[in-house]
Amino acid sequence: EEKFLVDPYGRKVTGLRISITDRCNLSCMYCHNEGADCCACGPVGKEMSPELICNIIREAAKFGVRKVKFSGGEPLFRKDFEDILACLPPLKEVSATTNGVMLEKRAKTLKSAGLDRVNISLDTLDPEKYERITGAPPGTLEKVIRGIDSAVKAGLTPVKLNMVLLKGINENEIDAMMDFIRPYKGKVILQLIELMNIDPELSKFTIDSKALEKNLEERASEVMVRHLHHRKKYVIDGVEVEFVRPMDNSEFCAHCSRLRVTADGKFKPCLLVHDNLVDIGEAKSPEEIEKLLRLAVSRRKPYYIPIIEVKRLEKAKE
Ligand code: GTP
Ligand code: 5AD
Repeated sequence: EEKFLVDPYGRKVTGLRISITDRCNLSCMYCHNEGADCCACGPVGKEMSPELICNIIREAAKFGVRKVKFSGGEPLFRKDFEDILACLPPLKEVSATTNGVMLEKRAKTLKSAGLDRVNISLDTLDPEKYERITGAPPGTLEKVIRGIDSAVKAGLTPVKLNMVLLKGINENEIDAMMDFIRPYKGKVILQLIELMNIDPELSKFTIDSKALEKNLEERASEVMVRHLHHRKKYVIDGVEVEFVRPMDNSEFCAHCSRLRVTADGKFKPCLLVHDNLVDIGEAKSPEEIEKLLRLAVSRRKPYYIPIIEVKRLEKAKE
């Protein structure tokens, strides 16, 4: 019996990215909905029970999955998120990605229930821009900032601030964001994210990632590469900055080690592919979950396929 889950491209699956709800209280102009058809629109879809979520994770953990990321929608819409956390097997890292709006009062209980750390979406420190980007009512940015404070105090660290870069909107705020996190003395990391233009309408907001990368490199006192999605990490003026470049990047896919689970209980091999899902269904036995897990892993394929791989496949066809 194989100890690890390895896909047809030799990529080991060591993490799960689980959406626990499609509900959300924001409607960000660029949102990719974690690959769901729709988010924050229409009636609430079916959501997995804490038992099912824990059964899936327990099974995956038997085969080397060590990291779990919870996402949404907005994961804090699940009032039973703490119950989900409480039934997990031992893991190396349990994290969540949240918009932070409802985090202030939950940070402590989430930490006690077993959440290690959070990523918080924050694209701007300007309230008007925040409202424009997210569609949130006035006063929401302040809530997010209180959420960040509360997360740091509760020890959900390092807290990563996810800043999706938007040309003409927030591209000039990188330094302001670095100044904002500096007082947190390493407990908050800035994660810059290249916009995925999932809709042609978004293309006009695409920044020049190459130029930005060059600029970061010039300013950095230290540059590291993180394995997951092959992302670069910089230390600049005493703060840590990570740059995620998901677009048109075969390295990103070559270093993808996560399998997704949708809010309605399906394994999803890739954010950007929508026709290869594996339905998990209700109350499966460990054997059944294992079978479905292996099927999903066998359907994983890099979205930006390395040119070397294309050549190999062409050669095989000849
Ligand atoms: P950690 O650093 O471990 O917390 O994970 P993360 O940075 O991947 O998590 P987060 O949820 O904050 O996502 C950051 C960015 O990476 C977002 O823009 C995601 O959309 C993007 N991303 C995460 N997973 C995938 C993926 O499988 N495919 C693509 N194309 N983008 C992804
Ligand atoms: N491009 C890049 N990042 C995105 N996110 C959502 N939609 C996009 C997109 N189109 C990011 C948000 C959130 C994370 C889960 O995904 O920053 O923090």
